[in-house]
Parts: sequence; structure tokens; C-alpha cells
Amino acid sequence: MRVLVAGATSVPGIPLLRELGERGHDVIGVTRSPGKAGEISARGAKPVLADVLDAAQISSVVKEFAPDAVVSLLTTLPKLGPIRIKDFEPATRLWSRGAGNLLAAAQQAGVARVVAESVIFAYGYGATGPARMDETDPYPGPPPRGGAEMLAALRGMERAVLGSGEHSNTEGIVLRYGVFYGPGVTHDELFRKLARWWALPAMTGTGIVSWVHIEDVAKATADAVERGGGGELYNIVDDRPQSFGDYVRELNGRLHRPRPWPISHRLVGLLAPYPATAFGTTWLPLSNAKAKADLGWTPIPR
Ligand SMILES: NC(=O)c1ccc[n+]([C@@H]2O[C@H](COP(=O)([O-])OP(=O)(O)OC[C@H]3O[C@@H](n4cnc5c(N)ncnc54)[C@H](OP(=O)(O)O)[C@@H]3O)[C@@H](O)[C@H]2O)c1
Repeated sequence: MRVLVAGATSVPGIPLLRELGERGHDVIGVTRSPGKAGEISARGAKPVLADVLDAAQISSVVKEFAPDAVVSLLTTLPKLGPIRIKDFEPATRLWSRGAGNLLAAAQQAGVARVVAESVIFAYGYGATGPARMDETDPYPGPPPRGGAEMLAALRGMERAVLGSGEHSNTEGIVLRYGVFYGPGVTHDELFRKLARWWALPAMTGTGIVSWVHIEDVAKATADAVERGGGGELYNIVDDRPQSFGDYVRELNGRLHRPRPWPISHRLVGLLAPYPATAFGTTWLPLSNAKAKADLGWTPIPR
């Protein structure tokens, strides 16, 4: 297949370019920056310059390359992850305008399928829920404080992608990725460094979230490109939801460091309100049964 990837230079984009290339696909990677073209060609893909906020530009690129599938990895957060709701402004613009331009470009060019990145937090930031949540749950959770616009933009992007096949020849698939970990994931690498220096405390709180290794993200995304169902939503998460505190304790254990000292999520919230909510109180232990059954994808136990 010919696959065009927007967000090719992102944390999930780089391993995806390699994965698609290894599977024999002809891959085109979009970037706005000529300086990043080398990162794309080094993974065997063809770089192309375009800004998805420029509807005419992205439309002419999609028309020119006439891909069979488009992958949207259009999220743009600070390198170490969001600290405040304000940090979501660029991503909100991408979800509300950029992803829409890309989807419209794919529809106009008659691209058969669009696969779009979303995240488990699209379920919302509720503090309770079932032992495992699956894709049949509606959007149960509220936004984080001050984050209504951001969450509405994310959910709006999802709805536009999922409904695409109802009024065009382009079917849409949404992947709700868990919290990334693994090589190349900036926040995970920082946490590893801090744990090595004995400087990573274990945040307390009742929150549980679902995680996913970045290599498993690449495989699941390529699987969705090849055989995802049109109009379907998939949780792309590993088998082990856990609290941030357990993630830190496990990391310390693997590095043979002593048990980390605890820090209250309320105290973390004074400096970093978003992570304190997302990891301190949010209940998101998700099931990956649908992705396993429909995509034939299995996260590697690590
Ligand atoms: N599920 C998760 O845990 C999760 C999800 C997302 C991000 N994160 C974390 O957040 C941090 C930042 O990652 P990120 O992926 O959000 O940001 P990023 O690494 O800055 O990547 C953003 C991508 O979007 C592209 N892009 C942005 N605006 C664009 C536009 N107007 N037109 C075309 N392309 C555009 C960028 O392309 P160019 O710059 O090449 O033009 C880049 O490829 C990382 O630590 C990552 O691990 C975590």
C-alpha cells in the first residue's frame, strides 16, 4: 500500500515509518520543516513538506501522492508532556483544524482509509469506573479543570474520523493510545534518568491509567492501516494498567534503586496540575481485547 503519514517526525511517527517500510509499504512522511526531512528518509520513507493548518497545501499533497491510506499522528505537546491545560493549545488547534483539513484532503482525493491517533484520555478524567473499560463505554469522564475546550476538540476529531465512511469513500479508524513508554519517549527517558539519580518520587493517588510500549504502538498502527475496520475505535494499550506510583516503583526496582519516597498528588498539583489529575486521580484501566481480536495485534509482555 502507499501510506502517507502526517506527524511522521513525532514520537510514534519515527517507529511507524520503520514498521511500515519493513512490511513493504511505500511510505510518505509529512513534515513542515526541511531540516527534519533527513529523519524521514533515514527510515526509508519519502519526505514531503506541508502544513496541515494550510488546507490547500495539504490537499494538493494528498492529491499528488494519491495514497491508499493516510495516518494522522497529529498531536503536538511539550517534549516532556503537558504540565498545564495551556500546554494543549497547539494540540487543540491540530485536533480542531489540522486533522479536519487532512481528513477533508483524504476524502477529496478518494483515499480509502484514514487512521487517526487519539489517546485514552478521550474517555475523560473520571475518578471511578469499571475494573476494565472497553470501547463500548460512551464518553463517561469529565474534562480536567479548565480543559473542556481541549477535550471537546479531541472528541470532535474522533467523531469526524469515525463518521467519515458514512458520507464519503474514506473510512476512518481511531486508535486511543495508552501512555507511551520505551526508547525515544522523552518523558519515559527523563523518568529513567531521574530514577537512576534516586530523584523520582512515587506520586500517590487513586488514579490508574493504561500504558503502551512505543514499538507496540507502531505495530498496532500498521495493523490498523492493513486491516482495521472502518468506523471502528480501538484501545491500543498493554495488558497491565497501573498507577503512576507503581510505574515508578517498578522502574526503581529494575534499576536496583531503593523504594522511592512517596509524594502526594495534591502537592504535585501545585506545580504540575495536569499530571496530578491525569495520573493522580483518573481511572482508565482499559481493555485491549478488541484490538487483539480484530487487528491480530498483541503487545509484547515486557
Ligand atoms: N499517548 C501518549 O503517551 C502521548 C501521545 C502524544 C504525545 N506524547 C508525548 O508528548 C511529547 C510530544 O510528542 P508529540 O507527538 O505530541 O509532539 P511532537 O514530537 O512535537 O510531534 C508533533 C508532530 O506533529 C507534526 N505537526 C505539528 N503541527 C503540524 C502542522 N501544522 N502540520 C503538519 N504537521 C504538524 C510535527 O511535524 P513537524 O514538526 O515535522 O513539522 C510532528 O511530526 C512526547 O514526549 C510524547 O511521548 C505522549
